[in-house]
Amino acid sequence: MGMNKKLGILLSGRGSNFLAIADSIAEERLSGAEIAVVVSNLADAPGIAAARERSFAAAVIESRGRKRAEHDAEIVATLQHHEVDLVCLAGYMRLLSPEFVRAFPQRILNIHPSLLPAFPGLHAQRQAIEYGVSYSGCTVHFVDEELDHGVIIVQRTVPVLPGDDERTLSARILEQEHLAYPEAIARVLSGNYEVKGRRYIAR
Ligand code: GRF
Repeated sequence: MGMNKKLGILLSGRGSNFLAIADSIAEERLSGAEIAVVVSNLADAPGIAAARERSFAAAVIESRGRKRAEHDAEIVATLQHHEVDLVCLAGYMRLLSPEFVRAFPQRILNIHPSLLPAFPGLHAQRQAIEYGVSYSGCTVHFVDEELDHGVIIVQRTVPVLPGDDERTLSARILEQEHLAYPEAIARVLSGNYEVKGRRYIAR
């Protein structure tokens, strides 16, 4: 379908956010989009096996032992080859080089399992439990050159309950991630927004 905007998904692991995006397209909860290619930097990521199983174009571009700039250039070339409009990081466990970010200005999204700017980086759910917050959630944001930092598009909250551990809180947040990511993609593809400073403003 030539009118659709093309998504490129980057992942390193399980791929549940990728599958949530794929399902929301298949079930027409997210329209005007298609997944053009799924890329993993790890050959054994379950998410890339799931992509192949569902007959999506899937590419493994191994990062191990390679310079970041060189690895990223190959990913950018693959995304451009598939004419990707919007890059979605979905559990992609690598920092992007400035060259990668500049190749898709305001066209790369990431999802993070906390209410940014709280708890950036690894193990955000464990950080939230250890800090003792009563609420956490997830954030979909534009990617800039700093880790977990760009302009926020969508956040969804969850309570942190007494007795939660990293696993139970992660599961509660993940449910909200699966709603937040398709919503953020729809918002960005609609073009009905502007960015002023750090603020995403819907029109
Ligand atoms: C999610 O918690 C996401 O927020 C974080 O990595 C995890 C990826 O999960 N960036 P999945 O691979 O999408 O299931």
